Amino acid sequence: MRTITLIKGDGIGPEISQAVVDIFKALNAPIEWDIQEAGADVLEKEGTVLPQKVLDSIKKNKVALKAPVTTPIGHGFKSVNVTLRKELDLYVSLRPAYNISGIKTRFDNVDLITVRENTEDLYAGIERKVDDDTMESIKLITRKASTRIAEFAFEYAKNNNRKMVTAVSKANICKLTDGLFLECARKVAEKYPDIKYSEVLVDNLCMQLVQNPTKYDVLLLPNLYGDIVSDLAAGLIGGLGVAQGANIGKDCAVFEAVHGSAPDIKGQNKANPTALLLSSVMMLEYINENELANKLKSAIFKVLEEGKVLTPDLGGTATTTEYTAEIIKNIL
Ligand code: NAI
Repeated sequence: MRTITLIKGDGIGPEISQAVVDIFKALNAPIEWDIQEAGADVLEKEGTVLPQKVLDSIKKNKVALKAPVTTPIGHGFKSVNVTLRKELDLYVSLRPAYNISGIKTRFDNVDLITVRENTEDLYAGIERKVDDDTMESIKLITRKASTRIAEFAFEYAKNNNRKMVTAVSKANICKLTDGLFLECARKVAEKYPDIKYSEVLVDNLCMQLVQNPTKYDVLLLPNLYGDIVSDLAAGLIGGLGVAQGANIGKDCAVFEAVHGSAPDIKGQNKANPTALLLSSVMMLEYINENELANKLKSAIFKVLEEGKVLTPDLGGTATTTEYTAEIIKNIL
């Protein structure tokens, strides 16, 4: 039995987490959940959106599955996600985006992996007020962080039989910062002669992705471009309801859907749990439970392909509970 931290989040978080818990039970997964609370709902009780015990639990268990949490807007509250990434040094955001049979999309054969640097760039939080009319934010890019994310992208490509890594930048304008990011990517690329290396400017990439996304394979990006481009990639394969992700560090990994807490449909039993479920497939692969991962993936794909029991975001009328039950019915 392996213990894994489960953050049920808020908004639709508890509903989609319950779907995962029920399906893992039906799978007889050898996993015990260490349930932890974070987000807007714990703020009142604990005085913080991310209590220390949540971090301690992840540090102890090394792996967590996290449902979305709301970040209260206003001063004094850091995003739970940004804090988790910083505290646990989860320097990789890994987001696969591929077509799923049964989900209508503009393009076929999309199969993209975005590898986004998760700790610096404009997210380093170095901002200051110059005066009432002028604010400043620092775009921090370091050799260390750029090299380790490039190494992750190439190792991922090598281990997953991927053919090409494309480094994304705006180095024509941000000559020093994005220039350093590219310099590090090129240096790492030299160690992987079997994997093609290419470069593209982020604005051009966005245009290319909406015209012909099949041109790309693994995308390597600094934090801000990665944030934007990975959502674009999610849009290419059916939207937020099916977009999976992981935040990975040297010691720990936190698996989560790309979407947020969807307060507009909270408590209505119509949230789509697929994105969190597919993130939990990634989690199973990460802990080498490959057979279980395949079993779960097959059940999800079968239900989506049949298209009879779908949640409203995918054009169906099923509730979260009905969709969950259908997946359980299809576990072989
Ligand atoms: P959102 O992703 O929560 O929702 C955008 C739209 O997509 C909404 O119409 C929502 O109903 C729909 N949607 C999202 N996930 C869905 C699902 N699984 N099934 C069906 N429909 C779904 O983005 P929004 O509204 O910008 O953010 C809401 C809150 O979530 C904010 O407080 C934000 O800070 C937080 N957030 C948290 C994230 C995380 O915990 N990883 C990531 C992104 C946002």
